[in-house]
Amino acid sequence: MTVRHLLADDDLTAVEQAEVLELGLALRADRYARRPLDGPRAVAIIFDKPTLRTQLSFSTGVAELGGFPTVVDGNLAQIGTRESVADVARVVGRQVSAIVWRTHGQDRLQEMADHVDVPVVNALSDDYHPCQLLADLLTVREAFGDVAGRTLVYLGDGANNMAHSYLLACATAGMDVRIVSPASHRPDPGVLARARDRAAETGGACTVTDDLAAVDGADVVVTDTWVSMGQESQAGERKGEASPFVPFRVTADVMARAAAGAIFLHCLPAYRGVEVAAEVIDGPASRVWDEAENRLHAQKALLAWLLERAGEGALAPSPAQVTG
Ligand code: NVA
Repeated sequence: MTVRHLLADDDLTAVEQAEVLELGLALRADRYARRPLDGPRAVAIIFDKPTLRTQLSFSTGVAELGGFPTVVDGNLAQIGTRESVADVARVVGRQVSAIVWRTHGQDRLQEMADHVDVPVVNALSDDYHPCQLLADLLTVREAFGDVAGRTLVYLGDGANNMAHSYLLACATAGMDVRIVSPASHRPDPGVLARARDRAAETGGACTVTDDLAAVDGADVVVTDTWVSMGQESQAGERKGEASPFVPFRVTADVMARAAAGAIFLHCLPAYRGVEVAAEVIDGPASRVWDEAENRLHAQKALLAWLLERAGEGALAPSPAQVTG
């Protein structure tokens, strides 16, 4: 069987993404329904950048799937500096059933995947955060019962990993995804083109604009920090009063433009009074704590799905027993 990876959101087809989300809902209803890592078999979880939710949810998730999480501190491993990514891959790939890696360049993830025969999962790179998007889509499914045809509006830094993942994952889900950002911080054109190609297949749509009218009637409003990991030296210009993102702060006035019953999501960590008003993230439309919990369920579903595709961990019990 061909080993499958999740390096970017569009590595999953629309059908495959729906399968993962369905399994995520089933695992939320019954956390111990699938044990593909019984043994326990290990999963390497490697961090070259800070983490809270990702370490917690992958470690807990691997344990709940019957496995053992081997967390690797990237500062100690110094992958690509102390030894090459390829050599690390050859060592790690022989000891674990899957590799989860939060790192910088997408090329590093690709090189890892090229040198192992176990699934590699992108746990956030400079370019994408596909695990977060599975959790977000699960949260949208919970809130509305469906994802296709829903409108999601992302406000803020349109050039960052979250904006790219919203474009690709929401287009895959058949959603109308709108990136509202300053012209100086637009998504990568290549990512936008891929998202539009995917949307043409699924009935979705992709818009990039600086016009807040794009929020009108939205089902889901999302934002992200204006200072991503690795951009700390730019914090002053990104967060100050002259920040190009100030007009795109998610305030109560912005939420009022969305549809009645619209929900607010944020991948966290959040900065109240910067990218989002406290009354929004702490208000009745906010689903951010469900969203954070859904990292666990979505990532367990993803690992189970990938291991099945890798010919490992025959999934039991049968899907009929875990639908819901
Ligand atoms: N864009 C943010 C996402 C954090 C989960 C970052 O890369 O830091």
